[in-house]
Amino acid sequence: MRSCILLSLGLLGSALAQTTSVDTYVATESPIAKAGLLANIGPNGSKSSGAKAGVVIASPSTSNPNYLYTWVRDSSLVFKVLVDQYTAGTDTSLRGLIDDFVTAEATLQQVTNPSGSVDTGGLGEPKFNIDETAFTDPWGRPHVTLWPIIQLDLNYVANFWNQSTFDLWEEVDSSSFWTTAVQHRSLREGSSLATRIGQTSSVASYKAQADNLLCFLQTYWNPSGHYITANTGGGRSGIDSNTVLASIHTFDPAAGCDASTFQPCSDKALSNLKAYVDSFRSIYSINNGIASNGAVATGRYPEDVYQGGNPWYLSTMAVAEQLYDALYVWDTQDSLTVTPISLPFFQLFDSAIQSGTYSSSSSAFTTLTSAIRTFADGFIAIHAKYTPSGGALAEQFTKSNGAPTSAVDLTWSYAAALTGFAARSATNVASWGAAGLTVPAVCNSNSGPTVSVTFNVDATTVLGENIYITGSVDALSNWSPDSALELSPASYPTWSST
Ligand SMILES: *[C@@H]1O[C@H](CO)[C@@H](O)[C@H](O)[C@H]1NC(C)=O
Ligand SMILES: *[C@@H]1O[C@H](CO)[C@@H](O)[C@H](O)[C@H]1NC(C)=O
Repeated sequence: MRSCILLSLGLLGSALAQTTSVDTYVATESPIAKAGLLANIGPNGSKSSGAKAGVVIASPSTSNPNYLYTWVRDSSLVFKVLVDQYTAGTDTSLRGLIDDFVTAEATLQQVTNPSGSVDTGGLGEPKFNIDETAFTDPWGRPHVTLWPIIQLDLNYVANFWNQSTFDLWEEVDSSSFWTTAVQHRSLREGSSLATRIGQTSSVASYKAQADNLLCFLQTYWNPSGHYITANTGGGRSGIDSNTVLASIHTFDPAAGCDASTFQPCSDKALSNLKAYVDSFRSIYSINNGIASNGAVATGRYPEDVYQGGNPWYLSTMAVAEQLYDALYVWDTQDSLTVTPISLPFFQLFDSAIQSGTYSSSSSAFTTLTSAIRTFADGFIAIHAKYTPSGGALAEQFTKSNGAPTSAVDLTWSYAAALTGFAARSATNVASWGAAGLTVPAVCNSNSGPTVSVTFNVDATTVLGENIYITGSVDALSNWSPDSALELSPASYPTWSST
């Protein structure tokens, strides 16, 4: 008994020590991460000379690897951090930079590049030169007022989501969970925005494609492996940080622990987190000797060999962020639910726990949430341990001794640190419309862009006669006279239908 008490006091003591050191790290690293991020944005960022206003460089590294380019996706993730800080009132000085970003992206949309021009596929181009000219070497392709700029991208997503694409690591050309998840979010959020500002012409089609995306999103779940398959191609296990990033990038506290949108506290996302974390326990020697329920360094995916195949700062931080998001929702809803799918995850923290719902007044809730908070802090402690004393964040740290490696000052590493730290302090996150969605029973595909075609017929008729049209495609009812489309006589004697 006594040794048991001593042991638990010892564990409590080390958890407290960890909390204190993580608190210290968050306090010192936050301003460094913010400054590191801002240094990589033109025109005035100290490490981004040559970048046009509002252009985010991926890293100042110019060789092995050369990242002195601007990626549309990475830049947007970086600016999401700044926009969230601005709209939350945390940093109101960012408005000029945000306006610069909008102008820069509007310019890049119009730059003809190897994927095409603005209306022939150019919006799928992943990266550009930092002076806003096209990057023309071979690469994995494709990939003011505000509304026309946003609308171009929403139309692109609505039209092309059902075509294959390179995953966010730009390696596998197939369908990708992260891409499907954020495309789904973009069309839902875009529909709400369009409705609010009275731009309703495309809202129905955005919603229809969002339903298709939500349906397709379910198919990535691997029920026998208990994880989310990151890419439909690639010939790997499919265990990938892509899935954890998708869960945090589509977090919506209003959706609770909904599994259809893979919310951070959903049973599927928690089961997936366990499978993902466990896949790195034995392959990185810096993880040796860590208990099977302790935090470890994690990378992009276990089969990774890029730049040596090492842990990534942003991947390790993403695990912490998903757990903090989950804790935020459990605290807000005053309960947590263990299902057969999430049971192995929760058993990491209480081997006797059973499926069921535990209210915040239960000891199980207290035990689990406090252990999960310690687990989450553990990932930040790993991040801290392998961050050099000046606080600079590279892309990776080596699996053998934790020294920073690959691109220096990766802008995304700084952005991920800021969002992870914000999640730890339970910062209010805005809702994007994930609550109350219904997954369609049948998944429809989308064969691609559509155009409006107007049929006009000049026909003199007598009262009671109508003009119909049918034809060889679905939109014209496939030669079915019974469901033929009725033309409108609004401009009689011209009968018309679009
Ligand atoms: C960049 O510096 C110029 C010159 O000092 C200044 O006019 C401009 O406002 C700065 N831009 C930003 C976004 O801070
Ligand atoms: C297109 O959508 C259908 C229906 O969800 C799906 O089965 C198919 O895999 C999708 N293809 C791509 C490339 O997204």
